Amino acid sequence: MIRAMSAQIRLVEITDANRDAVVAVRVHPAQERFVASVEKSFADARENPDARPWFRAVYDGDVPVGFVMLSWDTVPGPGLLGPYFLWRLLVGAGHQGRGYGTAVLNEVVALLRPAGATELLTSCVPGEGSPQPFYLRFGFVPTGEVDEDGEIILRLDLGSRP
Ligand SMILES: CC(C)(COP(=O)(O)OP(=O)(O)OC[C@H]1O[C@@H](n2cnc3c(N)ncnc32)[C@H](O)[C@@H]1OP(=O)(O)O)[C@@H](O)C(=O)NCCC(=O)NCCS
Repeated sequence: MIRAMSAQIRLVEITDANRDAVVAVRVHPAQERFVASVEKSFADARENPDARPWFRAVYDGDVPVGFVMLSWDTVPGPGLLGPYFLWRLLVGAGHQGRGYGTAVLNEVVALLRPAGATELLTSCVPGEGSPQPFYLRFGFVPTGEVDEDGEIILRLDLGSRP
């Protein structure tokens, strides 16, 4: 049996050559209330330069299986959590539950440490089908705060991870 933790992924830059294939990665329709699409993420990134968007496609071999976007080294302020904020994470509907999401978080943590980050923040919509249990399993802890959209804020202490 393949252990979830063992998924091999690559974080790949998005160019004109792979953009359409990455945009085609979608979650289950019932999950669309928890996460915006890749296309919407590109628009959000364009419209919010202050949030210093950093994004990559997630590949398993030559197959795009997901997308991740962070706010990278921002000056936190009203409506802007940071300095490091996991803004979007999605794994395609047909690819979920195989360890890709966990592998992406591991890879992101490995990139954040040398950048000097001490914590990674994220937020999620609570409720049935929410990714909250996924984040808690990884080690994120609710801060007790809620953002302006009613999403709960979660914090991963990078110092406490092996
Ligand atoms: C949340 C998400 C990124 C997880 O990616 P994934 O590749 O399916 O996750 P993994 O396979 O690494 O799962 C790791 C563990 O978390 C669990 N898990 C994953 N998603 C979960 C969910 N929504 N609810 C409860 N548990 C979940 C898995 O069962 C697995 O547990 P296991 O190790 O005991 O088998 C993915 O399911 C997804 O894109 N969901 C829809 C979009 C979304 O909600 N994104 C987050 C926006 S805030």
